[in-house]
Amino acid sequence: MILIKDVYVNGKRQDILIEGNKIKKIGEVKKDEVEDVEIIDGKKKIAIPGLINTHTHIPMTLFRGVADDLPLMEWLNNYIWPMEAKLNEKIVYWGTLLGCIEMIKSGTTTFNDMYFYLEGIAKAVDESGMRAVLAYGMIDLFDEERREKELKNAEKYIKYINELNNSRIIPALGPHAPYTCSKELLMKVNELAKKYNVMIHIHMNETLDEIKTVKEKTGMEPFVYLNSFGFFDNVNVIAAHCVHLTDEEIRIIKEKNINISHNPISNLKLASGISPIPKLLKEGINVTLGTDGCGSNNNLNLFEEIKITAILHKGVTLDPTVIKAETAFNFATKNGAKALNIKAGEIKEGYLADIVLINMDKPFLYPKENIMSHLVYAFNGFVDDVIIDGKIVMREGKILAVDEEKVYEKAEEMYEILRS
Ligand code: NI
Repeated sequence: MILIKDVYVNGKRQDILIEGNKIKKIGEVKKDEVEDVEIIDGKKKIAIPGLINTHTHIPMTLFRGVADDLPLMEWLNNYIWPMEAKLNEKIVYWGTLLGCIEMIKSGTTTFNDMYFYLEGIAKAVDESGMRAVLAYGMIDLFDEERREKELKNAEKYIKYINELNNSRIIPALGPHAPYTCSKELLMKVNELAKKYNVMIHIHMNETLDEIKTVKEKTGMEPFVYLNSFGFFDNVNVIAAHCVHLTDEEIRIIKEKNINISHNPISNLKLASGISPIPKLLKEGINVTLGTDGCGSNNNLNLFEEIKITAILHKGVTLDPTVIKAETAFNFATKNGAKALNIKAGEIKEGYLADIVLINMDKPFLYPKENIMSHLVYAFNGFVDDVIIDGKIVMREGKILAVDEEKVYEKAEEMYEILRS
């Protein structure tokens, strides 16, 4: 059992009792109510639900800074894809550990990933103590042979992750995007998602160029095209980016209950555009936040995404009320949990114990009155303690489960291999 004493949570000072991987009680907990308990003094701290990053490619931490200030296609074709060709399970493992350390330190407890060499990713996630939804990224480039290979891999990884039997690691399907995946592949993905009861994670409408490609090929916008063959029917989908959308596409997103992963920093950095989030909110669509990979962000600090989301759309719409602080914060917590179908994202009795503590003794968190405002507009993202699935994974800024120094050393070593 873990008892967080006298912490500021859900608007007041109280105790949080954790038993197993769940929050057992919030309120006053007397010492004689508990046995075998580890006590965390919460007096100077606030507790928030762990943040949920709904779109990323974690091993790309190793691509941080290798190619900035380029258009998406040039960035992918000339830099990212050639480096990705050199990857292997070992490189991916160390890149993922580096990403897990970064996420834990910045208050993220769950991430939704699409990448390759999932054995390496799953191993690192397991060791770090994080929670993750992992999908193998499928790209067939309309080639039948490649399609069969990709589908086989995807199915193999669902089985592999299921067999790990670790409740923190959840399998998913990751067809890359409508401009890199054939209709046949996408139709099969819908079938597999239903067969294995897993969600689908896909890039949608990231750039005008790619939308043009799909339109020229099919005569339809990407969401209309995918909807025309039932891709969204009876499955849970997270669509990343969704920068450029027609009204018809927004209608489909609403009707099919598609979750949006808003990635404002990646979209700004690659000059892809700005997603019409206020419009989606008006329709009651579930908006979540993602960082995307470190090649295009260049970090995994979801607090930056929260702040940018809260201010960006004010500037675009010239309306300061359009996304309030708490709304942006909910994107990264409650809404993310809803999209990934996990009982987290809120600090509530019976919910998963994914809890982040922040020491309030930081100059930018004074005066202490308006905490939600500070979290969204003032905080730098460096948190103090992190509990995931009822286990302490970071205590007073120190990562417990993995050797940080060794990960940094290995990250440099792996980077040398990638750029050689
Ligand atoms: Ni992406």
